Amino acid sequence: MSFSNPWWMLALLSALLTIIPTAALSSSSGASAVAARLPPNILRSSKDYHLLEVVPHDKTSFTDRYERFRQQGLTYYNGHIYEGTGLEEESHILQHDPADKMTTLNKVPVKPRHLFGEGISYYYIWKTDGNGHRVKENRLIQLTWRDQVGFIYSLPDLKVIKEFKYDTTTGEGWGITFVEHTNEFYVSDGSEYLMVWDAETLEEKRRITVVFDAGSQNVTVNLVNELEFIDFTSDHTCMPEISENSSNADSSSENNECPKSAQTSAFTSSMRILANIWYQDILVSIDPTSGWVKKVYNLNDIYPVSQRHEDGSDCLNGISVTGKQPLIGNSGVQVWVTGKWWPNMFRIQLID
Ligand SMILES: *[C@@H]1O[C@H](CO)[C@@H](O)[C@H](O)[C@H]1NC(C)=O
Ligand SMILES: *[C@@H]1O[C@H](CO)[C@@H](O)[C@H](O)[C@H]1NC(C)=O
Repeated sequence: MSFSNPWWMLALLSALLTIIPTAALSSSSGASAVAARLPPNILRSSKDYHLLEVVPHDKTSFTDRYERFRQQGLTYYNGHIYEGTGLEEESHILQHDPADKMTTLNKVPVKPRHLFGEGISYYYIWKTDGNGHRVKENRLIQLTWRDQVGFIYSLPDLKVIKEFKYDTTTGEGWGITFVEHTNEFYVSDGSEYLMVWDAETLEEKRRITVVFDAGSQNVTVNLVNELEFIDFTSDHTCMPEISENSSNADSSSENNECPKSAQTSAFTSSMRILANIWYQDILVSIDPTSGWVKKVYNLNDIYPVSQRHEDGSDCLNGISVTGKQPLIGNSGVQVWVTGKWWPNMFRIQLID
């Protein structure tokens, strides 16, 4: 999310930490009609992650605060991490090299400059070339905060291919992630809903409500922010390989494609939408079909609050898969995480 909050607003939100009753909300998931931040007992849940690597967030401008960008979204493609940044007149897409301490390789401004960039996601479409061959076209999609306009860029060169209009329940765009198995995007807008868009038409197909089973009650979880699709049992062999030269490295390599069985339209029980909740240093692992929160990862101590940007919004924000296999054991998913103004990115392995 996007605005800076005065300290008293944060204090108020903290005071309302558990449950904010709202009459207006209803839920399709059997939840009671409450919107809630997650109950405090959840924040004491076990960590269930391994910290694998810490790298500077933006090596090229690391020492200059004003050169730093406000992080709004992360995504992975072909060995590189792409970052969407926000604020009017300051929004960019950055391309970083995780194999070289996240050195920034490319920086493209969002235009027109008054737009406030939000979530981004790698995705691809299949096209037929002049010879009748199927060609994979790699792309990046970007939302903006309040202008209801998004952009599609070519990869890896980040040229705008097209601009599109969209709507959400709040009228805002927050997070977006591509689900290859169903050829869909999951989109967040700061509410408790995830909108599911057809990746080709960008039309909304359905909507799910994020719900947490807190024992004595089911609570809807609002302020759902940055999203990332993960699969805990993916064999990882079909992920794009890291290559020295990324330029179109995988655009025609059929060898890198996922086996057909991995591209069925059904979700498996190991698939999750990973989300962070605005203002909180947690990741929730959401069942992509039902919206139920299956697990909460507490990243509270990964970057001390005392070192953060003063504007109060400097919380966890930014999740991307890494393209790497689990490092510890055979299970788990590696992700990069960071925060709004955090000077570092953290590579962690999540345990399901
Ligand atoms: C929570 O929702 C589930 C599924 O709809 C339901 O079985 C359960 O009874 C609910 N729990 C509470 C406390 O209402
Ligand atoms: C990799 O990129 C460099 C610099 O653009 C180029 O000189 C070199 O030929 C490329 N190598 C391959 C294998 O494409």
